[in-house]
Amino acid sequence: MLIVGVSGSPRNQATEHILTQTLDILKVRGLETMLWTVRAKSMKYCVNCNYCLTRKTCVFQDDLKDLYDSFAVAKGLIFATPVYNGGVSAQLKTVMDRTRSLVAGDKNFFKGKIGMGITVGGDRAGGQELAQWQIHTFYLINGMIPVGGGPFGANLGANLWSKDSLEGVKLDEEGLRGLKKTTKRFVEYIDLYAKRDVYE
Ligand SMILES: Cc1cc2nc3c(=O)[nH]c(=O)nc-3n(C[C@H](O)[C@H](O)[C@H](O)COP(=O)(O)O)c2cc1C
Repeated sequence: MLIVGVSGSPRNQATEHILTQTLDILKVRGLETMLWTVRAKSMKYCVNCNYCLTRKTCVFQDDLKDLYDSFAVAKGLIFATPVYNGGVSAQLKTVMDRTRSLVAGDKNFFKGKIGMGITVGGDRAGGQELAQWQIHTFYLINGMIPVGGGPFGANLGANLWSKDSLEGVKLDEEGLRGLKKTTKRFVEYIDLYAKRDVYE
């Protein structure tokens, strides 16, 4: 039961730290995990060449290939992003856009996988919810089951405030509480839905 976490930060700082912590919790809950980071990776933007629509593979063969192979077998995905200008990082957006080649090959590629989002902003209200919504929109478009944090505490999911530092995010008690609640629900959803093979 593989869960793939993607860090959309080009640094090993707040976002990667929080994602690592989340995957560690999932490991304790008996899930197999994999962390993939955009950091130091080579990946081109989608250029809408439509090569994938006929060839069922991307015209670019770069570092996204390995990630997408793991997406194929994953039961759950966790996209984690720093908030850049009120949205996801360009790097995470590239990971999303280039999946067009996967969906061109199989429109149900992502269907039924469980999805959770983690956002980390330098400001307290810096656009975390907008970035979270961008992640959930990707999940919805692709037929995934998006997981929020639930009412009374986490709502849309894990949204953290770093004050622009690794130390800052470790002190964000409210954000960490939301992360805990969202992770708990993610595990519940994996137990509820991902163990069934209902999407054929
Ligand atoms: C290009 C850029 C744009 C940013 N825009 C925002 C923003 O809109 N809102 C916000 O809260 N923080 C913004 N930040 C701050 C980062 O979200 C914050 O420093 C975060 O902790 C970075 O994550 P990392 O430590 O994992 O790299 C921005 C940072 C960069 C580099």
